[in-house]
Amino acid sequence: MAGRNRFNNISSKEWLPFQKSWYLEDDIAETYRKNIRFFVKFDWDEHPPLVFFHGNEKKKKLFKNIAKEEGAQVLTEVNSISGETSIQFVLIDVVDEALALQDKDEAIQLNRTIFKLAKQLQPYLIHRRFLSVFTKNCFLNETYMPKAWDLSQRIAEIYTLKDEKIACLSAEEKKPSNTHFSTAANVYYALYFRNDENSGVDYGQFHETDFFIKNTQEIGVVKSENKISNWHIIKPPRRNKKEVLHPAKFPEEVVELFLPIFTKKYDAVFDPMSGTASTQLAALQNERNAYGTELSPFFYEIAQERLKNYLNPEQQAIFDEIPKHVDFKLLQKDARDIKTSDFPEIDYIFTSPPYWDMLNMAGAENQAKRIKNGLPTNYSNNELDLGNIADYRLFIENLVEIYQQLIKLLKPGGYFTIVVKNIKKKGKNYPFAYDLGHLLQKDLILLPEVFWLQDDINLAPYGYGNTFVSNTFHQYCLTFQKPKN
Ligand SMILES: C[S@@+](CC[C@H](N)C(=O)[O-])C[C@H]1O[C@@H](n2cnc3c(N)ncnc32)[C@H](O)[C@@H]1O
Repeated sequence: MAGRNRFNNISSKEWLPFQKSWYLEDDIAETYRKNIRFFVKFDWDEHPPLVFFHGNEKKKKLFKNIAKEEGAQVLTEVNSISGETSIQFVLIDVVDEALALQDKDEAIQLNRTIFKLAKQLQPYLIHRRFLSVFTKNCFLNETYMPKAWDLSQRIAEIYTLKDEKIACLSAEEKKPSNTHFSTAANVYYALYFRNDENSGVDYGQFHETDFFIKNTQEIGVVKSENKISNWHIIKPPRRNKKEVLHPAKFPEEVVELFLPIFTKKYDAVFDPMSGTASTQLAALQNERNAYGTELSPFFYEIAQERLKNYLNPEQQAIFDEIPKHVDFKLLQKDARDIKTSDFPEIDYIFTSPPYWDMLNMAGAENQAKRIKNGLPTNYSNNELDLGNIADYRLFIENLVEIYQQLIKLLKPGGYFTIVVKNIKKKGKNYPFAYDLGHLLQKDLILLPEVFWLQDDINLAPYGYGNTFVSNTFHQYCLTFQKPKN
């Protein structure tokens, strides 16, 4: 981690933890402090340590105090900025405002105000410096509105969307809701944009002004005793020899968070891109019927073996409670060719797609280590494999088409969870999770996202001394419901 730090004044020891893409927040003051220390360079001859803050009066006061302690100067009014002003960092915190919203119109209005502010500040923000927005998605009148995603897409039209961090709070739900979720009150997004040479460049994003908000559908009252929190830290057991052959297996523990919420005993659980059959194994272990498909013959064999071993009578003898009546069926085929006659009616789909063609990127996270250990780095070279589509837009369109077909298998009112993440590639952030959420809302009802948080990987010092690049340790579990009629 040697080299001169041209970006801020903190040591590599302080730099590294800031790069984790999620954090537990007990005190917003500490979050402000960490952001100021990361995004401001204090001994910069040409530019004084000037920051801009937008937030309610209470937060303004708090931010100003922290900034003063750290030695930064704060502006809070756009009107007071003169032509020569150079701002090092902008922080816009509208989390409280988002929680106080009453209806859709207010939500749209708040997003427009923030977009306008970001635009007004752009001429004063120094090249390659950051603007951050703290905001959240919200529940309004039984409708889940992905306000943060919408705002992110809008601001990405004028700045470069670089990164995001997920703030996890332990706060109890503020507005009790009738749904399965303990509301989205316990997370907020810290979105990070940079003012740079790529700002405003179209990279195939799906932009339509206020699209998400217009398209949101009512969830309807779903009474549920079981509630799921919006974030979960999962430390899975080490993968065995067979499991590690797959480059992107998710832990059964993630599936198990959702099964009690969205299914009951002997319900049919399905995964169209099964990999090593983690979904099916978790389903069987919880006495649900398990179905699925997988394109790659190699992973299909591993999946079959894992499931058969689980059901094998000799193996069963070592378990105390054996599911006796569970059914399972796995087919080796392209998910595009699934027919409704292949499987019974499905109660719950739980799946994770290839994350675009990231496994084909030689320098991508983890790849070098896998090559060194002689492990496969991608799923296959099959052109039907979605992980081999290089064009971002084409990749998403193919995936959405598959999901739209699968909706036919799902019973009305059934649920559908997709594990995804936003993707960083060659210095840009492609909001894969938001784009999927956006496109699938045409056919499905969006429910609050749940974050699966990883805490068992070592942080890497990306961008040290030069710019902010987080280590993505959070995955989105996007959940939808098929409308009942
Ligand atoms: C993220 S992995 C799934 C991992 C799985 N959830 C697990 O825990 O092992 C995505 C899987 O999709 C499969 N896949 C890619 N294109 C496919 C297609 N057209 N039809 C079916 N499966 C496909 C890949 O072979 C890969 O195993």
